[in-house]
Amino acid sequence: MEKVYIFDTTLRDGEQAPGFSMTVGEKVKMALQLEKLGVDVIEAGFAAASEGDFEAVKRVAQEVRTAKVCSLARALESDIDKAGEALSYTENRRIHTFIATSPIHMQHKLKMKPEDVLERAVYAVKHALRYTDDVEFSAEDAFRSEREFLYRIFEAVIEAGVKTINVPDTVGYAIPEEFGKLIADIKNNVPNIDKAIISVHCHNDLGLAVANSLAAVKNGARQVHSTINGIGERAGNAAVEEVVMAIKVRQDYFNGIYTTINTREIYKTSRLLCRITGSFVQPNKAIVGDNAFAHEAGIHQHGILAHRETYEIMRAEDVGVPASKIILGKHSGRHAFKARISELGYTNLSESDVDNLFTKFKKLADKKKEVFDEDIEALILEELSGFDQEVKLEYFHVLNGNGLISTATVKIVKNGEDVVSTASGDGPIDAVINAVEKALEIKGKLMDYTIRSLSSGKDAMGEVRVIVRFEDTENVASGKAVSTDIIEASLKAYIDAFNRYMAKKAFMGRKISEGV
Ligand code: KIV
Ligand code: ZN
Repeated sequence: MEKVYIFDTTLRDGEQAPGFSMTVGEKVKMALQLEKLGVDVIEAGFAAASEGDFEAVKRVAQEVRTAKVCSLARALESDIDKAGEALSYTENRRIHTFIATSPIHMQHKLKMKPEDVLERAVYAVKHALRYTDDVEFSAEDAFRSEREFLYRIFEAVIEAGVKTINVPDTVGYAIPEEFGKLIADIKNNVPNIDKAIISVHCHNDLGLAVANSLAAVKNGARQVHSTINGIGERAGNAAVEEVVMAIKVRQDYFNGIYTTINTREIYKTSRLLCRITGSFVQPNKAIVGDNAFAHEAGIHQHGILAHRETYEIMRAEDVGVPASKIILGKHSGRHAFKARISELGYTNLSESDVDNLFTKFKKLADKKKEVFDEDIEALILEELSGFDQEVKLEYFHVLNGNGLISTATVKIVKNGEDVVSTASGDGPIDAVINAVEKALEIKGKLMDYTIRSLSSGKDAMGEVRVIVRFEDTENVASGKAVSTDIIEASLKAYIDAFNRYMAKKAFMGRKISEGV
């Protein structure tokens, strides 16, 4: 039996993707869920990238107990010092330092000679070892690097003391057979490789991140970098849930290789990420998509009823998809409500959280006949959003109809003060957003707007997600909200984006991850 370690980078590489940024509080919440999922390492951020990232690594280090907490750092003393400082709040820590090793990156980005890159890598590792004995080294763009140089740099950093060498396919260029061979070659050509774990980090530009990671495991990699729902730079990273379930379901192929992931927490973790980032998973996404366990065709349904394994290679319960969907309504009491939220996996809420949620649930049940699990989850995650909102919506109304100019009045509370404003617009959503922008004294460009129904029925809750660019800054902020009234959801989502923008601004700090 041999374990494959799961290194989760949802909060670092995942969060780097536009529209997936999280507040510090949200990162902590996500980290606690990742810990429940049983990931071995949580890469909580890139401490030197911004004050917000530093704070996130520090807070995750303070809160997480069993998983190892890690920060990314370029092979620079100043980056490593920041990582070391942010991680000083836990004993269970790792510094992950990296430098590019491919000719194209060394020549055009780093403008460094291979020998200098090697020297810098060794120096960085030695410096990182002053903060922890657990240092991981990544050769960025390893797949496009020259083999002999890669062997040499890995040998040198292992000699310097790293415990894990990571092999990224940074641009998602590899084909599984080739990537598997690269891992086998590293195993066979780096003389001291037995002193380190081989890790892989695959991007999904050609849709092969999971396949490449699995090929690597088959050839000796014993750590996989991955993210929940496969989020990450560009087309994303290898999805944790797919890597883990492939290894579990195909034991005949992987022959005693295992992970220690609690697979029953997969679905909940995926949902939490969606709620926090306001993102959706495509319905046919493996493992966690809505259709992943739905058998529509009659012939399949017949087969499943006759013998489950005819069309099912794993059970929905194995990944924590809730089996029964008890529907609550306005007559449901606090007891039934509390039981349902704990069945949904939210077992550690305080009594006052439950009271607040129950009040919101009652309000919702008055508006809607049936309250589905999705509605309840939306309430929970909104209630526990994990960051202080600077601006809150007090009320709004809109005058709208065909043949009318839509006009909206919005009252918000901004820094403790009431502000009321009125504006018109091209339709009700434009009107409420214009009114709130007037009240906030800010202009934003709505880059994206998505709406979807969370459950079924005409009275279903609508979830709106917006991506807004405020004040022509380069950073976009995403916001989301749910309501049975889609105009209210749109307005609240816009305010949520504004609050996130302000929270980020408070931590300002330049994002320096580009050009590393
Ligand atoms: O894609 C990549 O190469 C990375 C490294 C920093 C590991 O994210
Ligand atoms: Zn990456």
